Amino acid sequence: MAKVFVMDHPLIHHKLTILRNEKTGSKEFRNLISEIATLMCYEATRDLPLKEVETKTPICVAKTKVIAGKKLAFVPILRAGLGMVDGVLSLVPSARVGHIGLYRDPETLKPVEYYCKLPADIEHREVIVLDPMLATGGSAIDAITQIKLRNPMSIKFMCIIAAPEGLEALKIAHPDVDIYIGSLDDHLNDHGYIVPGLGDAGDRIFGTK
Ligand code: PRP
Ligand code: URA
Repeated sequence: MAKVFVMDHPLIHHKLTILRNEKTGSKEFRNLISEIATLMCYEATRDLPLKEVETKTPICVAKTKVIAGKKLAFVPILRAGLGMVDGVLSLVPSARVGHIGLYRDPETLKPVEYYCKLPADIEHREVIVLDPMLATGGSAIDAITQIKLRNPMSIKFMCIIAAPEGLEALKIAHPDVDIYIGSLDDHLNDHGYIVPGLGDAGDRIFGTK
């Protein structure tokens, strides 16, 4: 069964409050999305496998640890997931980055796929899928289904705000995917927006509304 981690760090609570404020402009919004993604990445990488190496310090040769294997690939869901990429790469600069383009049809709320480009060696990598918003769950479920076709070592999903409806749907569709959430909000409204949420993440990141 999927493990669910809801963040409870004072820095994340504080940054989320500014992020949600309707008066926060695009520049600050982008910075906050990136900073929260960095803090969440620290948690989402806590269980990466390590191997022992020998390191010659100025004092002696010591047994120390490095991350084992080919490591990570981040896959943002376009558009809004792009806002999280710089933040996670600041912690794991050697990670590969794939992209999945999906938008939600405003009438049906079903995801429509328009782009998919994943790292060639993804089967040797642990994947972390990035999207600030998990609403109905349709976009995350579709993106993860696409990625699974390429057999990565494992998949985690990281979002900044989730609705309970989307979390339940994602857990049922992909029980093997651990989920990292900045805030678990109250519910979805009749238009499929998260309440209280932060509005349309893509529009607020890119200033398109
Ligand atoms: C937003 C968000 C997620 C999706 C979540 O993207 O970034 O991808 O909605 O909704 P769901 O859980 O109900 O699928 P949107 O469709 O607005 O596209 P955009 O990022 O291109 O604006
Ligand atoms: N997508 C968003 O950007 N915001 C929501 O509240 C729901 C879906």
